[in-house]
Amino acid sequence: MSTAKEPVVQVLLDPDWASGSLVEDVRRGFAAHPRALPPKWLYDDAGSDLFDEITRLPEYYPFAREREILIEHAAEIVTASGATTLVELGSGTSEKTRILLDAFAATGTLECFAPVDVSEATLRFAAEQISARYPGVQVEAVVGDFTLHLAHLPRSGSEGGGRRMVAFLGGTIGNLYLEERAAFLGALADTLESGDSLLLGTDLVKSSDRLIAAYNDDQGVTEKFVLNSLRVLNRELGADFDLDGFSYIPFWDAHMERMDLRLRSEMPQRVTIPGADLVLDLASGEEIRVEISTKFRVSKIAAELEAAGFGITRVWTDDHGDFALTLATKP
Ligand code: SAH
Ligand code: AVI
Repeated sequence: MSTAKEPVVQVLLDPDWASGSLVEDVRRGFAAHPRALPPKWLYDDAGSDLFDEITRLPEYYPFAREREILIEHAAEIVTASGATTLVELGSGTSEKTRILLDAFAATGTLECFAPVDVSEATLRFAAEQISARYPGVQVEAVVGDFTLHLAHLPRSGSEGGGRRMVAFLGGTIGNLYLEERAAFLGALADTLESGDSLLLGTDLVKSSDRLIAAYNDDQGVTEKFVLNSLRVLNRELGADFDLDGFSYIPFWDAHMERMDLRLRSEMPQRVTIPGADLVLDLASGEEIRVEISTKFRVSKIAAELEAAGFGITRVWTDDHGDFALTLATKP
């Protein structure tokens, strides 16, 4: 009989990480055109809860579609990976990951699960729950930034042998720009060993109506999620953004094949951001980009993975062709 193992939580972010790195991001992002913020700042406790609400919205199909693929193919994925360690980047609540963990439980091959997220409270809660549900698996959670900390991820098994599979689900890779994706995938390939794999979830290009609906839901949850980025700046940097002075503008950029989520200043306004030593004069109609969400074609996913040094093992899509899961292996 396996004994329950306490989850281990490793914190790779400095305690003042939020303020230090946020200041740099705000200075750089607000000097750019359009003004922009990196999306990791969307996920404070409130933002993580709002994202969780988004996953249950009828319009937000990616979550349900990716879950369908996992339910159908988890056993095959687990066998093909041959992994003894499952790392999950941007794990959030790890809700869908439980489908993979159940499949691993059936084979009894998984030794370690390492969820990685910037959102510490959400991560700690998920780690406790998973540890209790899968007592034979050592949970080694990492509070870290997947754009910075890939080299520090747990290795396979207690002795460092065995294979790793890195799951990056939800389509989160689409929140990175093309050059950020290339840097991220290259760094990930560098840190993996021969035979290790990446399980990558990507949302696929589809009609603009469905895409816009997914990011402009009737209940206004996505709008609250995007506006929450200004609350983060008010709280962390003492900024005085008036949330009522902005409207939410989500649009489909057909050329770049990505959703572009922006906040538009409804009037000329001056915002002070003391923590970043910044005064921001926004013209009426001026926009701040808070997030992009790139949509893919299967050929584009394969090309980006191969350019980074991965080989494509298998691609699965759901019955509607809305979402893809790709298993890529380091040769
Ligand atoms: N994987 C889950 C959650 C997706 S939401 C799913 O498929 O439903 C995106 C998650 O990535 C959030 O939990 C957020 O906190 C995390 N995240 C965003 N940027 C990050 C970064 N740079 N490093 C680590 N985690 C990040
Ligand atoms: C986490 N990520 C994949 C989500 C997406 O669809 O791009 C974030 C999100 N933003 C608004 N709704 C959901």
